[in-house]
Amino acid sequence: MKVLVVGSGGREHALAWKIAGDPRAPQVFAAPGSDAIAAVARCVAIEATDIAGLVAFAERESIDLTVVGPEAPLAAGIVDEFRARGLRIFGPDRAGAQLEASKAFTKRLLVDAGVPTAAYGEFTEAAAARAFARELGFPLVVKADGLAAGKGVVICADAAEADRAIDEMLEGGAFGEAGRRIVVEEFLVGEEASFMAITDGRTALALATSQDHKRILDGDQGPNTGGMGAYSPAPVVTDAIHDEVMRRVIRPTVAALAARGIDFRGVLYAGLMISESGIKVLEYNVRFGDPECQAIMLRLRSSLLDLIDAAIDRRLDEVRPQWDSATSLCVVMAAPGYPGEVRKGDVIEGLDERGASADALVFHSGTRRDAAGHWVTSGGRVLGVCASGARAADAAARAYGAIAGISWNGVQFRRDIAWRAIERERDGLRSSN
Ligand code: AMP
Ligand code: GLY
Repeated sequence: MKVLVVGSGGREHALAWKIAGDPRAPQVFAAPGSDAIAAVARCVAIEATDIAGLVAFAERESIDLTVVGPEAPLAAGIVDEFRARGLRIFGPDRAGAQLEASKAFTKRLLVDAGVPTAAYGEFTEAAAARAFARELGFPLVVKADGLAAGKGVVICADAAEADRAIDEMLEGGAFGEAGRRIVVEEFLVGEEASFMAITDGRTALALATSQDHKRILDGDQGPNTGGMGAYSPAPVVTDAIHDEVMRRVIRPTVAALAARGIDFRGVLYAGLMISESGIKVLEYNVRFGDPECQAIMLRLRSSLLDLIDAAIDRRLDEVRPQWDSATSLCVVMAAPGYPGEVRKGDVIEGLDERGASADALVFHSGTRRDAAGHWVTSGGRVLGVCASGARAADAAARAYGAIAGISWNGVQFRRDIAWRAIERERDGLRSSN
C-alpha cells in the first residue's frame, strides 16, 4: 500500500509517523515533507498547494491513499481534483472546506442548524460594521471571513479598536481577499477545547479530546499563535459535555452539511468555548489541529488507516478507535520573533539522530538540515516535544525533561502546557475522553 501525506509541518510529521507504523506496513510518501519527515517517509518536492503536481504524482506512483494535512489545499479543491480522477483521498472537498475557509459560511450554517455559537453580524461595508459593533457592545471580536493563517481574528476592547480592525480589513486590504468580508462577533468567556471528530458524511466518531494553548506566553498572555502546545484528554470535556457536543454540535453540523449536498468525509474540528452557561462553537477547522494532532496520535493505539478507510467508504459506524488511557502532551518550541517576524537558521543543539530522547518523541514543525548535517530552525514553530504519562503532570515532566536538553538562540516555549489539567488532577479530577 502506498500512502501520500500532503504537508510539511509537525502535524504531518505525526501523521506520517503514525501511518508508517501501521500494521499494514505501507510505503509512505510526503509532499513536500521535510528533512525530519524523511526519517519515516519518502519526501517528494511538490508543494502542498500544487494540486496539479500532486495529482500527477499520485497517478504516476499509483498512490492508494492521500491524506491532506493543512487547510489550504482542501480549500483550493485538492479533494475535488483527486476524486474526479478516481484517486482515493481523505478530507472534505472545496464545498466542505468552506467550513474553515469562510467564517460567514460557517456562522450561517451553525445558526441554521441551531448549533450554539456567538451572536454575530456579517459585513462588507465598514459603516454598517461599525454601527453593529456599537449595538453589540465591547469587548467584541472582528474576524476576516477567509483563511488568514490564524491571524485574521482581532479581539477589540473598545469602539476605537473595533473601528481600526474593521477599517484595516474592509478598507485597508489587511488579509487581502480573505478580509473583504468580515464577521463581527460577541466576545465569549470560558475555557477553550478542541473537539475533533472524523465523519463519513453520515456518522461522526469523536476522536480523543484535546486542548491547545493559543497565546505565546505562560498564563495565556500575549498575542495569539497557531498553538504553543496541546494535551489530550482535556478534562474540561467531561462525559456530560462530550455527549452534549456530539448531540448539539457535531451531529447537527454533519446533518447540515449533508442537507446542503456536501459530501464531507474528513476531520471536523470544532473549536469550543465552554462556560457555566454552556458550550459554544468558536470556529470550525476541516483538518487535524496542529499541535493537537501530535498529542492525539501518541494516544491512538489502533490503526489510523483503518479509521480513514472507514470514513472514505462510509462505514464509520463499523469501527472503534482505541485510545491509550494515558495523558499525552506536546510542547511547541518556537523561533525568536514568533508569532511575528521570525528569525530562521539558528542551529538546534541537543537533537539526536532520530530527533527523540528515551522518554519523548519530537515532531518537527519547522526545521531543516544544513550542509554540515546540523538541524537548524526554518519556521515560526520549530519542534513539538511530545510525551505521555499516567497523569498530565507525568507527561509534562517527561516533555519538559526532554526540552531541557534542546536549545537554540532565542528559543521560546511555554512552561505551563496542560496547567489546567494538572490543576484539576490536584483536585482529583480525571478525564477518559
Ligand atoms: P478562531 O480562528 O476563530 O478560532 O479564533 C482564534 C482564537 O481567537 C480562538 O482560539 C479564541 O482564543 C479567540 N476567539 C475567537 N473568537 C472568539 C470569541 N467570539 N470570543 C472570545 N475569543 C474568541
Ligand atoms: N491548533 C489550532 C489549529 O490547528 O487550528
